[in-house]
Formats: sequence, structure tokens, C-alpha cells
Amino acid sequence: METNKEKSLVVFTPSGHRDYFENGSTLLEAARKLGVDLDSVCGGRGICGRCQIEPAFGEFAKHKINAQEENISAPGDLEVNYKGRKEMGKNRRLACSAKINGDLIIDIPPDSHIHKQVIRKTVDLTDLTIEPLISLHFVETEKRVDNKSFDPLLLSLQEQWGLNNLKNEIKEKGLPASNGTYTAVVRDGKSLVAVWPGFKDQVFGIAIDVGSTTIAGHLCDLLSGEVLASAGVMNPQIRFGEDLMSRVSYVMMNKGAENELTEVVQDALNDLVGELCDNSNTNREDVFEITLVGNPIMHHLFLGYDPTPLGVAPFTLFEDKAIDTTAINLSIQANSATRVHVLPCIAGHVGADTAGVLLATKPQQTDGINLVVDVGTNAEILYRACFRGCTNK
Ligand code: FES
Repeated sequence: METNKEKSLVVFTPSGHRDYFENGSTLLEAARKLGVDLDSVCGGRGICGRCQIEPAFGEFAKHKINAQEENISAPGDLEVNYKGRKEMGKNRRLACSAKINGDLIIDIPPDSHIHKQVIRKTVDLTDLTIEPLISLHFVETEKRVDNKSFDPLLLSLQEQWGLNNLKNEIKEKGLPASNGTYTAVVRDGKSLVAVWPGFKDQVFGIAIDVGSTTIAGHLCDLLSGEVLASAGVMNPQIRFGEDLMSRVSYVMMNKGAENELTEVVQDALNDLVGELCDNSNTNREDVFEITLVGNPIMHHLFLGYDPTPLGVAPFTLFEDKAIDTTAINLSIQANSATRVHVLPCIAGHVGADTAGVLLATKPQQTDGINLVVDVGTNAEILYRACFRGCTNK
């Protein structure tokens, strides 16, 4: 890389991404060009405050950089008049406003990363990195109200966020009334699934474990990873039998009873989603992802499959693969775009709840002998022994 008078060297830490950029470019533009993990919902309009960075000044021999305070532009209008939703940290700047004037070392603080590390405090799980399937994108279009066409929005998403060939999966006929600003909800960078008028920076997901006795759920902010509410309800199927086998025999002895059991558990899931939203002052419409786990019989019942083959040897699963479906298919009221992800079952009596335990505890990543015990109405035990020479694949 060669220095050139109109360009300056910018090094982003902690990732180490570095390159020369034209003076006058914003640090958000530089970060995007390098693929630096820096958050932004408002697309550089000084509204969301998620792009906060910390410039470091002084002599950095390792990088051969002498970063002077004048190497970054003075705070501009966006920063001086900043009234964004996220509080501005000390010594921080908005990357969408701060411009490059000379060589710089720029630190991206942990809370400004898109893929934030979430340290669990209340649940003893290993740390995890959030990689939400859902992303939010604020755009400005020509000022149109009650527009029947999505074309201006799709064009703005292409021009302002580089989202090309988005598939429009919104069921509503036209854009909501707005002053020309919208927040678009995009799934997996490929599909436009919802749009709100104005600026919004929160979207939610719910994880639910359907146990034989209790059903427990956590509602999370999908962008920050924060758990905002936790709640549990009794599984109303208890009235058909306290344990799994007595519920299966109820189904065997009463024609069509599986529909009854499916209906009551789906009602309970719907009530739990409502309780979690009420407890966190959120709206069902803003929940876009739900993950469900449960033992094989619960799994079959909430999905509406016949559980009776699981009551007799060889305990055959009707379906053991991961399933993606919609909340509407499971009678859960949420957004029309809400997807439900059901983890795979492992074997006849080792279900999606155990797959969830495996994902959370990762016994395969440690050496020695590991025993993971899930004590519920049923208990599952995972045993893993890894000694010298054993592979962690
Ligand atoms: S990107 Fe939203 S404030 Fe900078």
C-alpha cells in the first residue's frame, strides 16, 4: 500500500482492518469498504447512534501512524445536534459524521459491533455471538403518502444500503402512510418482510422450550442480544396425562385426540408469547423470529404430527429434521412475517430440547469426560469422552 497525499491510512481495532482512504470520506464509509463489523440502522443520518467509534491519538509505532487530533474532522452538525436513541459515550464520535483528515487509529467499541458478544449473566451458558437473521434499514424516499407501490422503497434500499434484488415478501398491498421515511425489515439480506413508517431500531425474537410439565420462554432484542423478559406457563396437556406416555395412550385410545392436544399446547404458546410481550412492553407485531424446542412427543404435538409411533418400539419419529415454518401455521399471533424455527430431534426419545442443550453447552469443544444432564419430567444424558488424539469434529 502506498501513501498518497489525498489519502490517509486508517486502522480499525480490534479487528486490524486497514487501508488508505480519500481524505473527506466518513469513517462509516471506510469501515463499510473494509467489511469492518460496525453497526448502523439509520444508514448514516445521525439518528440511531449505533455507529459510535473511539479515535485514539498519539504515536503508534506498530502501525507507523502519528494520529493527531486534527486528523479527524471536528464534530459536525449531526454530532453537535445529536439527540439519537443511544446515549453518546465519552470521547466517542459518530462514524457516519466524522471525516478522515489524516492517518487514524479507530477503535470499534464492543457495543458498536453488529455481531456483539453477549455475556450471559442470569443463565449459565457459554458466551455467544449474535448473528441476527433480521436486519433493520432506515431509508428516505421521495415524499409520498399512501403509496401503493413498493418500488420507491426497494430503489432506496438498493441505493442507500446496497441491497440488490430484494424479494418483496410483504403481504400488505402498499406502503404505510409516512412522511417519506421508513424502516425496512430485511431477512437474511434477501427478503423485505416488513416496513414501518419513520425510524425504528428494535426487533424481537423469542426462544421457547416446550416441556411436558412447563413451557418456558425468553424474549430477546435481536439486535442487542439482551433478554428483556422471561416467563413460564404450565403445559395444559397435563389434564390428558401427567407423563408423556399417558398422553400418548390418551391419543391411542381416543380418536382425533392428537388434534385436541395440539390445540391446547398451541394456545399455551400463543398465551406465553403475549405474556412475554406484555412483560417487556413490546408488541407481538415486532416479534419476527421464534425458536421452539421440546422432547419428541411435545415436538410432534405442537407441530400437529401423530405422536403414537413414539409410544411403542422402535419409537419412530415422524420427522427428525429441523423445521422452518410460520407463526400463523402454529396459530401463534405475531407479525404475518414471523418465522418459527424448530430444532431437529436426535432419536426416538432424545428431542429438539437436547439439540438445544448441545448447542448451548458445546461439550464437543472440551477435552476429557463430559456429562450433560437435563433433568426434567424426562431426563436426557449426553456423554462425551475426548482424550488425546480424539477429534473435536
Ligand atoms: S449510522 Fe446511525 S447515527 Fe451513525
